Amino acid sequence: MWLRLGPPSLSLSPKPTVGRSLCLTLWFLSLALRASTQAPAPTVNTHFGKLRGARVPLPSEILGPVDQYLGVPYAAPPIGEKRFLPPEPPPSWSGIRNATHFPPVCPQNIHTAVPEVMLPVWFTANLDIVATYIQEPNEDCLYLNVYVPTEDDIRDSGAKPVMVYIHGGSYMEGTGNMIDGSVLASYGNVIVITLNYRVGVLGFLSTGDQAAKGNYGLLDQIQALRWVSENIAFFGGDPRRITVFGSGIGASCVSLLTLSHHSEGLFQRAIIQSGSALSSWAVNYQPVKYTSLLADKVGCNVLDTVDMVDCLRQKSAKELVEQDIQPARYHVAFGPVIDGDVIPDDPEILMEQGEFLNYDIMLGVNQGEGLKFVEGVVDPEDGVSGTDFDYSVSNFVDNLYGYPEGKDTLRETIKFMYTDWADRDNPETRRKTLVALFTDHQWVEPSVVTADLHARYGSPTYFYAFYHHCQSLMKPSPSPGILVCCSVN
Ligand SMILES: *[C@@H]1O[C@H](CO)[C@@H](O)[C@H](O)[C@H]1NC(C)=O
Repeated sequence: MWLRLGPPSLSLSPKPTVGRSLCLTLWFLSLALRASTQAPAPTVNTHFGKLRGARVPLPSEILGPVDQYLGVPYAAPPIGEKRFLPPEPPPSWSGIRNATHFPPVCPQNIHTAVPEVMLPVWFTANLDIVATYIQEPNEDCLYLNVYVPTEDDIRDSGAKPVMVYIHGGSYMEGTGNMIDGSVLASYGNVIVITLNYRVGVLGFLSTGDQAAKGNYGLLDQIQALRWVSENIAFFGGDPRRITVFGSGIGASCVSLLTLSHHSEGLFQRAIIQSGSALSSWAVNYQPVKYTSLLADKVGCNVLDTVDMVDCLRQKSAKELVEQDIQPARYHVAFGPVIDGDVIPDDPEILMEQGEFLNYDIMLGVNQGEGLKFVEGVVDPEDGVSGTDFDYSVSNFVDNLYGYPEGKDTLRETIKFMYTDWADRDNPETRRKTLVALFTDHQWVEPSVVTADLHARYGSPTYFYAFYHHCQSLMKPSPSPGILVCCSVN
């Protein structure tokens, strides 16, 4: 999920705040807002020009205020001829640029573009709130937000460490704006950065050849990291202590960044939460198929890929992102591709051969993350029937393993391993083992293998498993023991 780190953030917290505490929160917020209008506006220099931010107090006695610089350009607008191309450095400006409002989010379509199962529960359960964050999308969206603590910690008064958050959202949606970095910045005495990168068609369309090489969204992240390493000292940050972190698809991105030579020297630590470059949805192995589906839909499907991409450049961003192109289950239609450059080879091969730079790495998983893959077959009252269990396993094998021979053996092996033989006829137990199957396959195994390979090739590696009973009202737990609120992507 996107909003797990640090104390709950103020905006769009997935934890419901009800009754009295909501009133209190609003009261604190209004105090904060009133105070912020009186606080002096901080300014800071960058290599591209001066920025004016805002000093924002936090609604807590123990947290000092944070200087926020919102909507800072880290790349040139990727518009017109620059669509489907790697990002370029931003233009400079003269005078002082006001960095006090969130930038536009990248074009996306949260309502139809993606199978719900790929989205976090808090996201799908709160589409209305999410929608308010992505009004007025604009292709000119390559901006980042900087949250700087203002009160020095006695433990650490030198240049501050920096944490760069890569948002998730199935490579199809999301924005850094939704994550308020203030609390983490103030509490942790770190500079927190959130950013937008191109998503969906505009971020990842690939023709599998030179016409459109793909991976623009990843290159945006790398461009943002370059901006951070070159400019963060102006904000009091330490360019030699940069951590990149993300969850779900954000974690896949971070994991891919550790495998790319393009990000060499731009960060030193990585936190990879609930996902990895080895997850089945991390990389798109069939980009040409989905690109030609899209081209068909908008009348651009010509044989020559250069002409096709030219045609796609003439279309409005809205028309492109609104096309409903469904990926195969457990996969993505538009996402990072193995281009021999940004991602030089299959992540599994890169990892197995140690083809990566060393970073300090932390990975982790949550209990029961596979629940949403089981939701269709879970009856909250009765658990999972034997027939539904068999069907789910078959469907899982069919979707993920294309080869016909050996399929039956694989199915039977999975059923054998994920049956609790001491309690084999209990539907409730069946539900738990089915959740365990999806959790293990989609999250635990890719993360454990990633951790193992990084460790084997000399990266200091840490691993956590997060067990927590959520008290979310958004989605009542069918029974204690299974975590439902903290899903990923
Ligand atoms: C920036 O904000 C300041 C203070 O609110 C305002 O006076 C100024 O006109 C703004 N500048 C621009 C270019 O919008």
